[in-house]
Amino acid sequence: MPDAKFAADNAPALSLIICTLNEGAAIRSVVTEIGEHLTGIDYEIVVVDDDSKDNTAAEVLDLGKTDPRVRLFVRKGERGLSSAAIKGWDIAKGRVLGIMDGDGQHDPVAIRALADMILAGDKDLVCASRYIGKTDTGLSFIRDLGSKAATLATGLVLKVPLTDPMSGCFMMTRDWYDTARPNLTGVGFKILVDVVASTRVKPRFGEVKAALRQRQGGESKLDIRVVLDLAALLVEKATNGIITARFVLFGLVGVSGAFVYALVLAVSHYLLRVEGALPLYRYQVRWDDIINYGLAIWLSMTWNFWLNNILTFRDKRLKGWPMLTGLLGFYFACSIGAILSLGVAILLKDYFGFHWFAAGISAALLSGVWNYWGAKALAWNQ
Ligand code: GDD
Ligand code: MN
Repeated sequence: MPDAKFAADNAPALSLIICTLNEGAAIRSVVTEIGEHLTGIDYEIVVVDDDSKDNTAAEVLDLGKTDPRVRLFVRKGERGLSSAAIKGWDIAKGRVLGIMDGDGQHDPVAIRALADMILAGDKDLVCASRYIGKTDTGLSFIRDLGSKAATLATGLVLKVPLTDPMSGCFMMTRDWYDTARPNLTGVGFKILVDVVASTRVKPRFGEVKAALRQRQGGESKLDIRVVLDLAALLVEKATNGIITARFVLFGLVGVSGAFVYALVLAVSHYLLRVEGALPLYRYQVRWDDIINYGLAIWLSMTWNFWLNNILTFRDKRLKGWPMLTGLLGFYFACSIGAILSLGVAILLKDYFGFHWFAAGISAALLSGVWNYWGAKALAWNQ
């Protein structure tokens, strides 16, 4: 049976998704401007709001009262521009799917040009690009440089020669999008990269030159995590999904945790003096040692949990009480990982004849994979 929403006669030609996080200052004028420029085009706007703290949702609901083409979907407990966009396209009804920002940075004139181009029917994907010819990107020098570097790195992974793969303003046919939908990663900000890298079907594509305008109030959500997300996304796509973006982020956090471990160990070694020893079987284990190593393990595990919570799993970020139970789950998963690592190292060395160092590193990598799955299941309930 065909999906009801496609069979419906009133399916609009174009569904434009606007993802929002605290865009109450701009969303009304953005939606109004679009209406003024898309005259004669049968469209709908789906705003996917991640439970904004400001009046974004109220503004959209109000707009929807007088204009039924404007719909609101509120996600709770979830974050991320890419996953919000995917949600929007999942509930959209149009034959063409698009996306733009809710802060007024995307020029409605370019949106109109994109709509005309894709609705003409001979393209699968059309993007607004800041890098056709010499354009003012509207970015600070540093961000402009970063954006160009990211574009270059992305070009190596993508098969399609987009001049601006970082663009957050584009439109595509639902037919072409459907070929990418099963393979989407949904991590981070760069949804165009995600879509293009998730299908083997080469789109017939076009571009429209468009400079970014100034944001209308509110503030940008871009930070260092967006860059890490993109790097992780590219690894996932380059390895055909074998190494997932999330695992890359988890690994980066793990590396930082190793530094924390070393730091705590060194500091406590030089600062902490505790007399005495704990008699254990035929040995005397110095309290110093127990405390030094114990502190390093405990603090680095806690650091890892904290960083994973705001980076790797920030779309499912734990707060309040669940954060505490999540932390305990994380400790538990890592402890099993440590025991596993110990056993595997000895097994590899004594039974399989590995060099002692190779055995230790292999075992640690394996327990890293375990920790990832364990943490996912026990701490962030994925
Ligand atoms: N639902 C939802 N959830 N929306 C979000 C989230 C989120 O977690 N984070 C950001 N957004 C929304 C913002 O409210 C805004 O409408 C849009 O996504 C873009 O966010 P900005 O914070 O304005 O991003 P930017 O201006 O730094 O980035 C723009 O330029 C990039 C190219 O350099 C965007 O167009 C990006 O998509 C684009 O890649
Ligand atoms: Mn913006």
